[in-house]
Amino acid sequence: MFLGLDVGTSGVKAVLEDEAGALIASAGRPLALSHPQPLWSEQNPDHWVEAVIGAVDDLARARPRETAAVSGIGLSGQMHGATLLNRDGRPLRPAILWNDGRSQAECAELERRCPELHAIAGNLAMPGFTAPKLVWVAKHEPRIFAEVAKVLLPKAYVRYRLSGEMVEDMSDAAGTLWLDVGARRWSEKLLAATGLGLDHMPRLVEGNERSAVLSPELARRWGMGADVVIAGGAGDNAASAIGLGAITPGDAFLSLGTSGVLFRVTDRFAPVPEAAVHAFCHALGGLWHQMGVMLSAAASLAWLARILETPEAALLAPLGISVERPSPVQFLPYLDGERTPHNDAHAAGALVGLRSAAGRADLVQAVLEGVAFASRDMFAALARSAQPITELDLVGGGSRSLLWAQIMADVLGVTVHRVEEGEVGAAIGASRLGRLAATGEAPADVCRKPQRLQSFEPRAPQRAAYDDAYAQWRKLYPALKECIS
Ligand code: XUL
Repeated sequence: MFLGLDVGTSGVKAVLEDEAGALIASAGRPLALSHPQPLWSEQNPDHWVEAVIGAVDDLARARPRETAAVSGIGLSGQMHGATLLNRDGRPLRPAILWNDGRSQAECAELERRCPELHAIAGNLAMPGFTAPKLVWVAKHEPRIFAEVAKVLLPKAYVRYRLSGEMVEDMSDAAGTLWLDVGARRWSEKLLAATGLGLDHMPRLVEGNERSAVLSPELARRWGMGADVVIAGGAGDNAASAIGLGAITPGDAFLSLGTSGVLFRVTDRFAPVPEAAVHAFCHALGGLWHQMGVMLSAAASLAWLARILETPEAALLAPLGISVERPSPVQFLPYLDGERTPHNDAHAAGALVGLRSAAGRADLVQAVLEGVAFASRDMFAALARSAQPITELDLVGGGSRSLLWAQIMADVLGVTVHRVEEGEVGAAIGASRLGRLAATGEAPADVCRKPQRLQSFEPRAPQRAAYDDAYAQWRKLYPALKECIS
């Protein structure tokens, strides 16, 4: 039996998978975010640990026999979050998360200090990444910076508390801006540019390698044996890829979670920093991936539901499963700034084209389309290198909506598939990595592609109408930049 643990932003998920790859049980615990100042986004690292332990407690209560039989655990986590630990391994402050935009000025500073940054890290310095957050802490909280003994990413902190070991996997480490992504090792040059050294970093392993063993205390608590292996694991996007069987160069998927991610597997380190494409290691040795990242995807719909005080399902229902023409209203989904392609932490969202005839359904459709247009931007950014993407799997909470899937197919002009278990992909990927580390099996035998539930083809008339609407939408950000960023 294998256990996958995904430390997300809005909650923790735990899944149990058996030797046949079947999902046996799952449990979840919510997590709160705090925004103490505009652009800030923080969480208490100990809440991740409490939520993970609570979720596994729930599994152990519901399925004691299966939980006790776990031999491998895999971790997946929200990427980039800076968890600063003192000499005693205690957090020095709340973790600064991936969607925190406070360090835009420090990004420019970092690029000045280390002109080779793009070549080594393969990425633009963006406020979401870890290194600029440490430059911010050094400048604004120097006493805390002076006490930093280790910097861990969220799931590495959870691993530390589950096992006592400080270890990171390559896919997550690539999102720090301290990794030499092509060589898959920490870069002393990039660390020095942040005022840190190798001592501040955890040990590195590949995602499917053994990283630690579950502590005897927790193993006893859950009735498990003495040698439960914890795999390196992966950043949540690479973990989703493992869950989707995306381990062959060219495989691609679009995830509509809080953030939106267009992910493509590559057989080499393939940076495109000028378009704010992320070039990271995959969770398996010898593979890399490219990603476009938008910061508010399903989060945009959640925002509309919140301000209209109406559940998402009730907002979507009147629109049915397809729309005939684009909404007269357009939406820029930059509610928490944007990464690909603009790299603008200060960007804000906008609703444009409002007339007195505009109704609630027009706004709902505008939000779905705004996220689809921003996805098309990511598509264009990734098209600057490698072969075109001709089909993709749609995953994450947003993939529940058939309407959104059809809009994506029409806007992107490719076949979009909804897949089984598309909403728990990262936790499943984590459990598969746990299995690989425990059994030493070949990745291709374990990382199978899920069943496709439904496929959506682009419809020619809507495709043409969306080409025009997208061309119009593309003009909004440059025209409004002065007002919204
Ligand atoms: C990726 C990113 C987000 C988080 C969400 O670069 O910042 O997708 O990993 O958890």
